[in-house]
Amino acid sequence: MTGVTNKKALVIGGTSGIGAAVADALAERGAEVVRASRATGLDVSDGAALSSWIVQQGPIDHLVFTAGSQAPGGAIASLDLDAARAAFDTKFWGSIRAAQAAAPHLREGGTITFTSGFLARRTVPGTFTKTAINAALEASAKILAKELAPIRVNVVSPGLTETEAYAGMDADARRQMLEGAASRLPAGRVARPHDVAAGHLFAIETPSVTGAVIDIDGGALIN
Ligand SMILES: NC(=O)c1ccc[n+]([C@@H]2O[C@H](COP(=O)([O-])OP(=O)(O)OC[C@H]3O[C@@H](n4cnc5c(N)ncnc54)[C@H](OP(=O)(O)O)[C@@H]3O)[C@@H](O)[C@H]2O)c1
Repeated sequence: MTGVTNKKALVIGGTSGIGAAVADALAERGAEVVRASRATGLDVSDGAALSSWIVQQGPIDHLVFTAGSQAPGGAIASLDLDAARAAFDTKFWGSIRAAQAAAPHLREGGTITFTSGFLARRTVPGTFTKTAINAALEASAKILAKELAPIRVNVVSPGLTETEAYAGMDADARRQMLEGAASRLPAGRVARPHDVAAGHLFAIETPSVTGAVIDIDGGALIN
């Protein structure tokens, strides 16, 4: 028995990468896990569909949001702002709307865990969309942790993590990117999905953790 045994958890983004690893870890610990994504028929950029899907789940114990790994790159001066807005609709507004819809249905001891990314606090030209989404998410989680207390609200901030998010890259370019990053990171390795999922599990299972941003980035922020 663990703190999540027999608890109900929604993992939005749970069909791939980090979300799938969180869902697997929760299920291994005996939780009832519901995974959602476009592959299961839920597009979180459709706000009404997202809210009504969450309400249909009934009372829940834990909400995890990992959906939306794609965002346009490029300098702000020439950025496709419509594409940037669409990325916000999925990851930022999706997270906020999911929290808003789930909060009234969370049982005592309930948690909400978002997923940001190390670019939230790293200044890299050409990464505006990811930086802005992730920074907004981290700031919002702290507000939510106070407004929704005693529901605990936390964020896990991954660094480069080997997931399906990079499946579209040429295989050699992908391998070079991952090996290059591993050689530069203080931890000497790029994270695997289960490394990051350990952060979500820590946030869910540790009763004193709220308003926290948990960095699992191989040391990217101290590099
Ligand atoms: N991997 C990294 O290097 C890295 C680094 C920093 C931060 N992060 C963050 O970690 C989170 C998870 O990333 P990941 O690498 O695990 O990504 P991933 O493997 O691409 O998984 C993303 C998940 O989100 C779902 N999703 C995407 N758009 C959606 C939509 N509109 N509606 C519903 N579900 C949607 C996908 O399923 P469908 O396609 O079926 O919808 C999938 O289940 C993201 O927030 C990402 O920004 C990742």
